[in-house]
Amino acid sequence: MNGRPAPLACVGEVIANGLVSSAFHRLDIALDRVFTFQPGQFVMINEPGPLAWTFSRPFSVLAADDRIVSILYRVVGRGTQAMAGLAPGRPVSVLGPLGEPFPAPVDGQTTVLLGGGVGLPPVYAWWQRWGLDGDVACFGARDGGEVPWGLLGGPWRISVDSPGCVPAGRQATTGVVTSLVDRDDALRGGERTVLLACGPQPLLRAAADLARRRGWRCLVSLEEHMGCGYGVCKGCVVRVADGDTVRNATCCHDGPVFDAARLPDLAAEAGGADAGGAKA
Ligand SMILES: Cc1cc2nc3c(=O)[nH]c(=O)nc-3n(C[C@H](O)[C@H](O)[C@H](O)COP(=O)(O)OP(=O)(O)OC[C@H]3O[C@@H](n4cnc5c(N)ncnc54)[C@H](O)[C@@H]3O)c2cc1C
Ligand code: FES
Repeated sequence: MNGRPAPLACVGEVIANGLVSSAFHRLDIALDRVFTFQPGQFVMINEPGPLAWTFSRPFSVLAADDRIVSILYRVVGRGTQAMAGLAPGRPVSVLGPLGEPFPAPVDGQTTVLLGGGVGLPPVYAWWQRWGLDGDVACFGARDGGEVPWGLLGGPWRISVDSPGCVPAGRQATTGVVTSLVDRDDALRGGERTVLLACGPQPLLRAAADLARRRGWRCLVSLEEHMGCGYGVCKGCVVRVADGDTVRNATCCHDGPVFDAARLPDLAAEAGGADAGGAKA
């Protein structure tokens, strides 16, 4: 599979599941075998047996340590509500890792990471794996209470839509997450700069717009609704440009990471983007 780690399907066991900020839960699942992934890949989660949801739900991998895989999630509906109730010891179905990851850095590359809301895990995983001095990691949230401060060390630049709930000793800039980079003159120019972004559509549009103005390559991770997660149901189709032609691609198998320049729907709206906030 294109050098991607082979996906596994297994039933794991919840070892920890709880809030790490006012909005985000972290779920750690112990598997019966070693789990490896590339930053940007995701897993499909479900409950096994009679409690199984009709469709598994996709979540980016936050981290993996030997046989433990971790995800970070926000409760938005029935599936994530059920997940929040999974106590340690409960079984969880895991399928993954799936999808096209963010690329590894090449020599001399500067990487700018932008994560908004639940778009944090892929850029967090990239930073943990490959981040170096000179790379820039940014996260945007609605307010300081939402920020998982324990995960994001000093180098992370944080933006919040509204001030408040920022812990003593930590800093957050009020505004959209792209402004954390837009104001940084040291990052101007640079064909060797690559921007990696994940978050709500306004953030992705603003990221694509910023990259275009700076002449940077921009890769975005999309969060489409998914059915199967591995290219069969065609429930996650996105339009992708190949030269002058536009074809349908699956977000789950061909993505979720795409070159922003190849996404006509993102590009069409990017010029008018005025947001980069974290309203996931
Ligand atoms: C590749 C990928 C990676 C993802 N990674 C994460 C992650 O790391 N953490 C996280 O919290 N969420 C992530 N998501 C989104 C997550 O899959 C949805 O929030 C989840 O499926 C919602 O399930 P639910 O049953 O709680 O909500 P539902 O009851 O199905 O829906 C509740 C609300 O959420 C919206 N929604 C549902 N699914 C999606 C989706 N796939 N994308 C955008 N909006 C959706 C619905 O339109 C509705 O408004 C990811 C999605 C994809 C495709
Ligand atoms: S979710 Fe089934 S093809 Fe993508």
